[in-house]
Amino acid sequence: MTVPWPPTYYTSEKHLALEHARIFEKSWLCVARASQIAEPGSFVRVRAGREDLILVRKPDRQVRALVNLCRHRGAALCTEQQGRFKNSIRCPYHGWSFNLDGHLTSAPFLHDLPPETKERHLFTAQVTEWLGYLWVNLDPSAPPLMDQIGPLLQHRFGNADVPSRYGCEELEVAKEITYDVAANWKILYENFCECYHCPTMHPEICQILPSWRTGYGTVSGPEGPKLEGSLLADDATGFSLSGKAAAPTLPGVPPEDARTFHGILLWPNVHLMFIPDHVMCMRFEPIAPHRTRVITQSLFHPEAIRTPGFTPDDAAALVDVTAREDFEACERVQQTTGSSYFEEFHTPHESLILDFRAWVHDRLYPDTEHTPAERSA
Ligand code: FES
Ligand SMILES: [Fe+2]
Repeated sequence: MTVPWPPTYYTSEKHLALEHARIFEKSWLCVARASQIAEPGSFVRVRAGREDLILVRKPDRQVRALVNLCRHRGAALCTEQQGRFKNSIRCPYHGWSFNLDGHLTSAPFLHDLPPETKERHLFTAQVTEWLGYLWVNLDPSAPPLMDQIGPLLQHRFGNADVPSRYGCEELEVAKEITYDVAANWKILYENFCECYHCPTMHPEICQILPSWRTGYGTVSGPEGPKLEGSLLADDATGFSLSGKAAAPTLPGVPPEDARTFHGILLWPNVHLMFIPDHVMCMRFEPIAPHRTRVITQSLFHPEAIRTPGFTPDDAAALVDVTAREDFEACERVQQTTGSSYFEEFHTPHESLILDFRAWVHDRLYPDTEHTPAERSA
């Protein structure tokens, strides 16, 4: 079924607010590396939908996701991006203090206040860890992460547990790049749903993954997903701009994957690439209807990173040059979404876009088959 998809979906503040409320604030979002808060008391601030969260490592090594908002009069508790709490979080405004579970532990003149004041704990989000990333969900009743991404993994990889082969928990971020793209997050996502543009726009990546010249990448194919991934070119040893591997093959990668690229989109905010010697994670954060922040991380084995002469730059450059080409095209599409002539045609190469739209639509309007026009703006 083709769902209604008016161009206002790419331009409307009201529509983005609805997406925040019904998608980003109800879905599991990949937000940080667990290793960023390795020590007890260490914290990092992240965005989840429209909310500001503090992810903190407790003394028992569990991670707590706390909404960064004091339960007295709402001041932001923390303005640093990351750091370390001793044993508590003290609001600088009137001095209310919360422990790392978010429970109110002290406040000036607390004994004079009504007893229920003691129950004014910080709001929390669910948090879990997968592939060494912390994933959060603001919806307290949301089912586990695998309920959200399991069907996508199954659709892309069948029963093969491809992600676990790469030992992502052990890997470290060797390079991170942040992009500010002048396009709606869905235009970016739709771009990554298809490889029809690859032969036209991506000479560099087609040199390394020649099968992409067919217009079919790894995430979509003519008859469903290509479970086997994409093979490196005969003269390439790795997924990099030069075609050379940046590091030895990761320890868990089986021989059949030693020259293979696997990619997957995990809606709504992650694109993962599994390559023999490293893993790339691309995350998307909607900032405004016409603005999206994209963060890419190149993950390598710690032994490779500490090898003299190692550099992630060549590998990261292939994704960087390709991503910049993609983002420029996305900005071109965004430019015309305000035109009354805006419309689209999809080739068979682009069928995954329709799956993505159906997923978005189901979350925005779970009880309706079609979007009422009055709710589309
Ligand atoms: S707003 Fe935080 S203690 Fe008053
Ligand atoms: Fe692309």
